[in-house]
Amino acid sequence: MTGEWIRIRAPATTSNIGAGFDIFGLALDSPFDIMEGRASPSGTSVSEIRGRGAEGIPRDPASNSAAIAAAEVLKRAGAGFGVELRIEKGIRPCSGIGSSGASAAGGAYLANLLCGSPLSDAEVILCAAHAEEVMSGGFHADNVAPCILGGFTIIRSYEPFEVSRIEPPANLGVVVAMPDVMVCTADSRRVIPKEVSVRDLVFHVGNASTLVYAMMTGDLAKIGRSVKDAVFEPARASLVPHLREAEAAATSHGALVSFLGGSGPCVISFYDRDTHCGDRIAESVREVYARGGMGCDTWVTGCGRGCEVI
Ligand code: HSE
Repeated sequence: MTGEWIRIRAPATTSNIGAGFDIFGLALDSPFDIMEGRASPSGTSVSEIRGRGAEGIPRDPASNSAAIAAAEVLKRAGAGFGVELRIEKGIRPCSGIGSSGASAAGGAYLANLLCGSPLSDAEVILCAAHAEEVMSGGFHADNVAPCILGGFTIIRSYEPFEVSRIEPPANLGVVVAMPDVMVCTADSRRVIPKEVSVRDLVFHVGNASTLVYAMMTGDLAKIGRSVKDAVFEPARASLVPHLREAEAAATSHGALVSFLGGSGPCVISFYDRDTHCGDRIAESVREVYARGGMGCDTWVTGCGRGCEVI
């Protein structure tokens, strides 16, 4: 049995967002991956991978995040068929904006659709997080949750799994700057500390709580003040050339705040779309990298929706 192709869009996401390591995530409007899936007689296969960084992505279903996530859905759903996937990457791998997360979430989302949607959103997220664990060595759902649900997501607990979604303020603009360097999540997770001090814990709880309040009330200035990370970004900063200069350039050109996207190397800047120009912020970050002899791609975007059929 070979079914009709279903075509979906799986968005990039930014995770951590200051004090919410492995907890906060935000779906972006761009970039995004396009994925297609259809039912096949058995097993899970990847018949095509195109686009940004496609050459480095394995087709072997045992080491491809979309296929791992899809297989997990088929197993949980007790499906009596397999899935064939085609992937067009708009999100470069090892970028810090949820490239493997989009593949995993898209694979799980497609497989669930092909099964007639028997799994809840939370179960689909867990299947995608399983693929993230296989690929990065860490069980984290802070990219796959917003990739499925859209908006700003908060994971209260992994066991039992509980996630909440907030609609972010409409005027919250996002500039994504991706320097020409690859930082893989597994490597970036190796440098983080195993323990934190009470002082840093207090700092993170205060900022994380206030960021949620600011997202819910649409207070952009407060969002800017509460994206703070005393632990993870400092530990990872040496993996990303010119990170501090890029952040300083963005904030001096109107960004509310600028920070390391997920496990890096993307530099994310939030700005007020009603009062500031995202293109100027993007240009200022590109100039930092140009001065350092490095290329840097930018997207001037906003908060986005989750996976959807197109
Ligand atoms: N929360 C994860 C990390 C996201 O920072 O390692 C990976 O993109």
